[in-house]
Amino acid sequence: MIRIPVQTPSQSYEVLIERGLLRTAATALRDLIPGNGRSFVLTAPPVQKRWAGVLHKSFAKDGRKVDVIVMPDGERSKTLAELEKLAGKLVNLGADRRSVLLALGGGVVGDVGAFLASVFMRGIPVVQIPTTLLAQVDSAIGGKTGVNLKAGKNLLGTFHQPLAVLVDPEVLSTLPEREYRSGLFEAMKYGVIRNPAIFSLMESQRDALLRRNGAVLEQLIADCIRVKADVVSRDERESGERRILNFGHTIGHALEAETNYRRLLHGEAVGWGMIAASLIGAEMGVTGPATTERIIALVQRYGPLPKIKVDGKRIMKRLASDKKTVGGVPHFILPTAIGEVEVVNKVPPRLVVEMVRKIGAFGS
Ligand SMILES: NC(=O)c1ccc[n+]([C@@H]2O[C@H](COP(=O)([O-])OP(=O)(O)OC[C@H]3O[C@@H](n4cnc5c(N)ncnc54)[C@H](O)[C@@H]3O)[C@@H](O)[C@H]2O)c1
Ligand SMILES: [Zn+2]
Repeated sequence: MIRIPVQTPSQSYEVLIERGLLRTAATALRDLIPGNGRSFVLTAPPVQKRWAGVLHKSFAKDGRKVDVIVMPDGERSKTLAELEKLAGKLVNLGADRRSVLLALGGGVVGDVGAFLASVFMRGIPVVQIPTTLLAQVDSAIGGKTGVNLKAGKNLLGTFHQPLAVLVDPEVLSTLPEREYRSGLFEAMKYGVIRNPAIFSLMESQRDALLRRNGAVLEQLIADCIRVKADVVSRDERESGERRILNFGHTIGHALEAETNYRRLLHGEAVGWGMIAASLIGAEMGVTGPATTERIIALVQRYGPLPKIKVDGKRIMKRLASDKKTVGGVPHFILPTAIGEVEVVNKVPPRLVVEMVRKIGAFGS
């Protein structure tokens, strides 16, 4: 078992990684979940069907009971209304302040579950059991929770660090191909911002990773989690260093919004965002040509990305009003080398418009 510590001012916890961990989850959690409290699993139908039984059995073997609560699948259920319904279900099932919530699913279940746990009876612990690659390497770690408003994504939320994060790479075997690849783009991000070994592993082991080879995948996941854990430990509330995790996300988020969250999966938008950031970096003289080429080539080898047709000016407008933009000036995370980035807030708007046009013409 690989154990990676996360130490933030509000809580210290571990990310446990092991193939088959879901089957022994109850044992792994034995010392963390108080004997007198009850456990509730929150999940969504695609994961419930395939994996909730495994988790349930592991608790049964350990002589403990869990209740399973199911929420509707997908981004559209990341709402306050859904959160309220789930809270009602918890109350009806007899949950109290000693209860623990286990969020078993992708980033949606993780974000809603952690938000719910953070406010239920003024806060109960949450254990993250991420089942998408994106959730395993990113959203389950770091304590950000949230739901969407009509006005935008993740506009309501809290910080609520989990009690523990259990990562079982085996659960990825049932993940749809596109979701899986989408997570790989997020993994690539960690290679560019911090760890060149992740980037090289993805360059040399593409076929094994696409086949979801157990050992290689486990290594990739662990390496990515080490980066996320380290960054979050140093900057829990995203006042400084944590911003580097937004590499590829400045333009990525704007592309997702501009295409109404229908055309691109999040990781695919990040794929386009990483290409755009590298091109912007090259134009600004921040990113060397060899680095730019390597990044673009690697994104494309894990593609294809759905083609996009968007107006650069509209993207620029969205960037100026993004919730992460301070004073109307968007910040960009630009690579200086593979494994190193710089935060730049002096990117001329016309360059953004031009690069968005360029990625729109990619591959044609
Ligand atoms: N809190 C954070 O720091 C943070 C960071 C990044 C993203 N997010 C959030 O994460 C969300 C996206 O998460 P996601 O990409 O995991 O999407 P998701 O949770 O919607 O999962 C994608 C799909 O895969 C299904 N699925 C999950 N695991 C499966 C499995 N093992 N087998 C078969 N199907 C499975 C899900 O039910 C869903 O249909 C967004 O809402 C985003 O805002 C949060
Ligand atoms: Zn992301």
